[in-house]
Amino acid sequence: MPIENYPSIRLRRLRKTPALRDLVRENTVTVNDLIYPIFVEEEIAAMAPVTSMPGVSRIPEKMLASEIKAIAADGVKAIMMFGVSHKKDATGSDSWKNDGLLSRMIKIAKDAAPELVVMSDTCFCEYTDHGHCGVVEQGHVHNDMTLVNLARQAVAAARAGADVIAPSAMMDGQIAALRDALDESGFSNLPLMAYSSKFASAFYGPFRAAAGCDLKGDRKAYQMDPMNGREALRESLQDEAEGADFLMVKPGLPYLDVLADIRANTLLPLAVYQVSGEYAMIKFAAQAGALDEKRVVREALGAFKRAGADLILSYFARDIAREGF
Ligand code: PBG
Repeated sequence: MPIENYPSIRLRRLRKTPALRDLVRENTVTVNDLIYPIFVEEEIAAMAPVTSMPGVSRIPEKMLASEIKAIAADGVKAIMMFGVSHKKDATGSDSWKNDGLLSRMIKIAKDAAPELVVMSDTCFCEYTDHGHCGVVEQGHVHNDMTLVNLARQAVAAARAGADVIAPSAMMDGQIAALRDALDESGFSNLPLMAYSSKFASAFYGPFRAAAGCDLKGDRKAYQMDPMNGREALRESLQDEAEGADFLMVKPGLPYLDVLADIRANTLLPLAVYQVSGEYAMIKFAAQAGALDEKRVVREALGAFKRAGADLILSYFARDIAREGF
């Protein structure tokens, strides 16, 4: 078929008016696609602003119920919960106690807004005194010992009422281990959102301050090398084979190629995490007057959709729910 060319083909014809552009737009983002990550800290009295993430605060456990109601009233449909623990130990055992912070915050959230989808980030870095995402043995995070504890944490989150379990520790076999543990505990209907392609990224910098989980060293022995694309596809397909209900790419904007590649190779719902560093870059640039925040956010989230994401985790989700795009 011969390719027609200018002047008979004029692509600008369909860009002439706002209504025409609306008609031919290929992707849209709505609040239904968004998941809002929040940080909950025990034993503090007041909201604790995260200086590296303007507009984000650690919510005191005491204020969580009223904050959750306000978040739901703003129109947010789903949240991802992170605990900021004051009871850290070598294994992160507080996270699987029935009266521990993780269980309490999930119960509070579900009681305050039963219709809100509550996702539980399932990992250990916020609960261990060394800051690693699992059990450290002779200087290394021990994969299979960590799986046992991840299963404990997932079952505790399930008992507390979480709607989705989202393992982010990047241990091999974690989806299979959690699926088994949940099924055996009577939670065969509870979905698993795998942080399936999670990179060892410098873009998590502000999160580590927000969640109080700084560590000496790095996570390169379990999170992925940012230089690898094929391996990201292997990780995601492996999680799909183990029974994941959603897949995820994290971070977002620097990894759109990975997102598109996974989209082309799976039928599962695919999430993307616009991480703390991506949020901070936009916020600080907007504060400096260099960027128009709203337009940049719309463009970045639209790019995730274009690349193949169905769901987007974003610290902008609450603003978008409240103010629209
Ligand atoms: C826990 C976890 C991290 C993030 C989400 N879950 C930190 C990490 O892996 O270092 C980062 C989120 C963000 O930067 O916004 N494992």
